[in-house]
Amino acid sequence: MGANFLLSFYMLRYFVDKNIALASTLNSQFYTDPLIFEETKERIFALSPQFIGDTSLIDEAGQCHPFTLLKNYLNEPLLLTRDQHQNVHCLANVCTHRGNILIGQPCKTNTLRCKYHGRLFALDGNFISMPEFKEVQHFPSPLDDLKKLPLFPLGRLLFTSLKNDLDFSVYLKNMMERLDWLPLNEFIFRPELSKDYYVKAHWALYCENYLEGFHIPFVHAGLNTVIDYGEYTTELFRYSNLQLGIAKGEENCFNLPPSSIDHGKKIAAYYFWIFPNMMFNFYPWGLSINVVQPIAIDKTKVSFFTYIWKEEKYNRGAGSNLDKVEMEDEEIVQTVQKGIRSRFYQHGRYSVTREQGTHHFHRLISEFMQ
Ligand code: FES
Ligand SMILES: [Fe+2]
Repeated sequence: MGANFLLSFYMLRYFVDKNIALASTLNSQFYTDPLIFEETKERIFALSPQFIGDTSLIDEAGQCHPFTLLKNYLNEPLLLTRDQHQNVHCLANVCTHRGNILIGQPCKTNTLRCKYHGRLFALDGNFISMPEFKEVQHFPSPLDDLKKLPLFPLGRLLFTSLKNDLDFSVYLKNMMERLDWLPLNEFIFRPELSKDYYVKAHWALYCENYLEGFHIPFVHAGLNTVIDYGEYTTELFRYSNLQLGIAKGEENCFNLPPSSIDHGKKIAAYYFWIFPNMMFNFYPWGLSINVVQPIAIDKTKVSFFTYIWKEEKYNRGAGSNLDKVEMEDEEIVQTVQKGIRSRFYQHGRYSVTREQGTHHFHRLISEFMQ
């Protein structure tokens, strides 16, 4: 009886009806309850794909790149390496002896030696040797190797997950197929055009704002002059979705090959979103990847990674003034952050024609949290 009651309580808390015309939005408790914010770590973020960066981090054999996966949230110390056979590995950056962090700074090396008691590993994470361990029985075992994490490449872009058997393709295949004509390998990361933003709002409020073009005429006067609001569409996939920005004019559109199913359309931007926190915005000049990183229940870091494909088209059309568009989004999302805490707000309803992406996002949250 008690267990059943608890179960239905949890189901009700996150329930979002499949039918958008009947559905109410996610309960405001999701954005305000610190326990739910903690639960989301393991239930959503630890089970999903996460962006690392691209292969330029480890261009040459022997290069090692330590990083923290979702710093201040998942806080998982990881290590990217390229071995002498040019194979790239994603490993736990934690020594299997007593848990020291193995590599502190990017470096080039043939082996990984722990600075605490000298345990030695190969660049693929396999245990090699350990001083003063001759008497230890049943040693070494596979548990003494560094934990290996899955690694998924998309062109030069690299993804990993804390979930061992994650099927990355379910998350990424719709984007890969739709843009299979794009030479992703030619996209070059430009750090000087990349930027981190700090938003005083819950991470999901930032995502759900991204997931609808409904607010464009109200919030983005500039963007509204180049995007045709009437033609704006949203397509839903299993763990991702696509918003298609159609241009008002002929300029600053993709030159689509006949093989593309969008051939003949005036596409200004492909806005792909991958659950739970990645946005891939393709413009005729290249790609802006936005990674949404929770820091606190009301604080979020959003990193914009800029990849240039055609420099001469940079900062034109829908992909121009991205900083201004971001400021407009942040302002409205931060205002919602204040409203969502109100005693008088619990949830709202969706526009059937304009908020399919937000509904999809809430449905996935509800699926993962139950
Ligand atoms: S913690 Fe690494 S060798 Fe002891
Ligand atoms: Fe926006």
